Amino acid sequence: MTTTDLRIAVAGATGAVGRELLTLLEARGTEIGELRLLASERSRGRTIEFAGRELTVQLLEDAAFDGIDVAFFSCGKERSKRYAPAAVERGALVIDNSSAFRLDADVPLIVPEVNAAAMPTGSGGAIIANPNCSTILMVVPLAPLHQAFGLESVVVSTYQAASGAGQKGIEALLGGVRSYMDGPTDGGAAGEATAGETEVFGHRLAFNLVPHIDTFADDGVTGEERKMVLETRKIMGLPELPVDVTCVRVPVLRCHSEAVTIATREAITPDLARAALQGAPGVRLVDDPTGLEYPMPVDADGVEPVLVGRVRDSAVFENGISFWLSGDQLLKGAALNAVQIFESYQDMCGPQAQLTAPAERRED
Ligand SMILES: NC(=O)c1ccc[n+]([C@@H]2O[C@H](COP(=O)([O-])OP(=O)(O)OC[C@H]3O[C@@H](n4cnc5c(N)ncnc54)[C@H](OP(=O)(O)O)[C@@H]3O)[C@@H](O)[C@H]2O)c1
Repeated sequence: MTTTDLRIAVAGATGAVGRELLTLLEARGTEIGELRLLASERSRGRTIEFAGRELTVQLLEDAAFDGIDVAFFSCGKERSKRYAPAAVERGALVIDNSSAFRLDADVPLIVPEVNAAAMPTGSGGAIIANPNCSTILMVVPLAPLHQAFGLESVVVSTYQAASGAGQKGIEALLGGVRSYMDGPTDGGAAGEATAGETEVFGHRLAFNLVPHIDTFADDGVTGEERKMVLETRKIMGLPELPVDVTCVRVPVLRCHSEAVTIATREAITPDLARAALQGAPGVRLVDDPTGLEYPMPVDADGVEPVLVGRVRDSAVFENGISFWLSGDQLLKGAALNAVQIFESYQDMCGPQAQLTAPAERRED
């Protein structure tokens, strides 16, 4: 770590997103004076290496935010609701990965390539929400298309990886595949879901698809689908945008994919769409089907931009195209977007000193 006064806390440091966040902070050479790693009682006392130093995981509690300037939260909605206000009271800027505050009118929901202008200004003591992972991956290419052609409506189906359900999602899929191939070891019947798969996905995920992520509402829409509708509208500043979503869990370990169809106000062709997407911030065009080049989860793993391809005319909308994307939901869909929010905030609000809470607040 380099010498600076900036004190950062990572709540959920032992989780799938938290670990990615630490890797990114280290790889980007973020100047950090003190880094506090927070998790549950289960992980208290564990050590995690960061920039050549062994850091001990501490318990997530109010006092853990004393003196903290920036707190990244990746430990679930309930913990965010409970502890983010304590961090804000102590003057910290909270960047929250959960859905706890995303739709609050006074909380900005930011994807820097799309709506950096919504970033709050001034010193610490605020919450910025990091959007839902599938939403982030979709709005990155939608933004340049909207700018060029005017979005009228969006129809999307997602293909979401097991790690979208965190570390236990990864373990459940791996356990399910082993059980299917080698026979069950948990007392279950051959070919049926393991206990881990049932707990995390409700069904067998190995060699299966589950069209159900989060809980169903009375209208048959799931929580994940609703998040994509409402968050897309908020981020893009299009409160009436019709968005039709089907979210599906697939037996992929990492990286979400999406089949997207849009209708636009202005005339659009695949070539015009490719021209708008080429070089757009956060987008990498991978679109040579005859050369077998199109986005796939294995190629998006560990990659920062969203991969976009299979751009073609819509057979339904007169002004419309369809495309396919794959993106690393643990990076751009979560940890990377959170770090980019932090970096944009620093850029917009000036030197790190402005992230420092007022002195009287620090003495709590
Ligand atoms: N996975 C994704 O693709 C993704 C994408 C976007 C957003 N998110 C959001 O990011 C958050 C974290 O997701 P994840 O996938 O990283 O989950 P995860 O792998 O299950 O990790 C959860 C983290 O939260 C901590 N935690 C759980 N219960 C706690 C408690 N009672 N007190 C303190 N810490 C507690 C865990 O600590 P222990 O090690 O002590 O259990 C762990 O560090 C969630 O809000 C999720 O919705 C996830």
